[in-house]
Amino acid sequence: MNPNTTNSVCILGHGITYSRSPLIHNYWIEKYGVDSEYGICDLPAEKLPGFLSSIRDGKSAGCNVTTPYKQTVIQYLDAIDDAASGIGSVNTIYRRDGLLRGTSTDGAGYIGHLTNTHPDLQLKNARVLVLGAGGAARSIADALVQSGCSVIYIANRTLQKAREIAALQPDIIEPLAWDDLQSIPGLVDLLVNTTSLGMVGRQPLLFPLENTQSDCVVSDIVYAPLETELLSQARSLGRPVLDGLGMLLHQAVPGFQLWFGIEPQVTDELRALVEQDLLSHG
Ligand code: ATR
Repeated sequence: MNPNTTNSVCILGHGITYSRSPLIHNYWIEKYGVDSEYGICDLPAEKLPGFLSSIRDGKSAGCNVTTPYKQTVIQYLDAIDDAASGIGSVNTIYRRDGLLRGTSTDGAGYIGHLTNTHPDLQLKNARVLVLGAGGAARSIADALVQSGCSVIYIANRTLQKAREIAALQPDIIEPLAWDDLQSIPGLVDLLVNTTSLGMVGRQPLLFPLENTQSDCVVSDIVYAPLETELLSQARSLGRPVLDGLGMLLHQAVPGFQLWFGIEPQVTDELRALVEQDLLSHG
């Protein structure tokens, strides 16, 4: 990273094997002519306080956060917003008025991708089925609640985890056991797979999509492969679909905007660049 710039940004984590964030942000940095550089900061836990203080002191514009620090960093920040406190996790850090602030952009990234791709889908009063109850499900469910969805079913193999997410908004979120899904598909306007099923090397997600309504949007946050079996089945049934790559791209938008004051566009060119990278790095 260029030591002369105080506008530099990075992804902060430990044991980072690969990240697509540098590719995405450096594309925008070049496109918008920002004097910055996006790198990788792989640090042991004892270096976190010093690193984060340096952002507060203006030595960097901010950072993204990945495993294993998405929860750990919170204790060193001056404030976190509702998106981060709702899920207890931060993926983006920035400075405002001398304070170090944290947010989580996964949920906004999902909603941004969804509304861009399917502008006709009304999220207000929509009914949604979320499959899985990990960190991604938590972010997406929280963002769907904020978008005005009236019912969000969360089905998970381990029911307890679905119950924990439901406890955040018991009036709207309903936990479901994985085996109690039969009657639900026909009731929803949107279905989201947040489980790891369907990823390269994992079993496919087998789901009775034929029971969904003809206009139910079927989405998968898995992006390797780009076309999961779930999406391919949805397409063959004529359902509108939403792939996982768009969420990855859109979740980066708020960070760039917070650091540099420019709302970057998710262009076809950027998408093609990341698709190419997926093909070469998996
Ligand atoms: P993330 O935080 O990225 O969402 P995660 O916490 O590992 O990832 O969550 C993975 C999700 O995939 C979980 O909901 C997990 O279900 P459990 O909570 O029961 O583990 C789900 N998952 C993984 N393998 C699965 C399988 N074979 N069948 C059903 N669900 C599965």
